[in-house]
Amino acid sequence: KLSFKIICVFQISDEEQGYDLDLFCIPKHYADDLERVYIPHGLILDRTERLAREIMKNMGGHHIVALCVLKGGYKFFADLLLDYIKALNRNSDLTKQIHLILNDTHPHLLDLLLVRDIIDTGKTMKTLLELLKQYNPKMVKVASLLVKRTPRSVGYRPDFVGFEVPDKFVVGYALDYNEYFRDLNHICVISETGKEKYKA
Ligand code: HPA
Ligand code: MG
Repeated sequence: KLSFKIICVFQISDEEQGYDLDLFCIPKHYADDLERVYIPHGLILDRTERLAREIMKNMGGHHIVALCVLKGGYKFFADLLLDYIKALNRNSDLTKQIHLILNDTHPHLLDLLLVRDIIDTGKTMKTLLELLKQYNPKMVKVASLLVKRTPRSVGYRPDFVGFEVPDKFVVGYALDYNEYFRDLNHICVISETGKEKYKA
């Protein structure tokens, strides 16, 4: 039996201009440091809700251990798992659990879900997946909010992708520039002023 699956990608084109900052609420202290709103917070949450559903469909029958990879993923991690997946679980009669733990005594029994903010070159993910192999987990899947279209990519593609974005530096929704902008809800493009002001 043949079956076809249409893979939907939320692709943000290279021409996408985003939205004027004045259309949204932006923390005052960042007023001059941003160029445009690129992905509004509401859209991030809507897309995250759908990803949570796909993840449950894909991994749902199992006992999932979810790991947040690095600081930049924490908002996505929280919204994806703590709100949406939990809500989905409450609405289903299966008792699936998500354990937010790093060390489990039986890693070979685990279905791991790694949650990331952005895949840029993909080098970090490749290294991490290599490292995890030694624990011989039953399954490893990766969900990334963003994947960048960049010639520097090593070709790695995660299992679940929120948005595919052009090769621009973005901040907000926990993504940082030298630790700044994590406290911004929308994903935005940084301005020249911002780059200069928060330069390392
Ligand atoms: N923004 C924030 N952090 C990042 C990015 C980005 O565009 N690419 C890799 N790390
Ligand atoms: Mg960072």
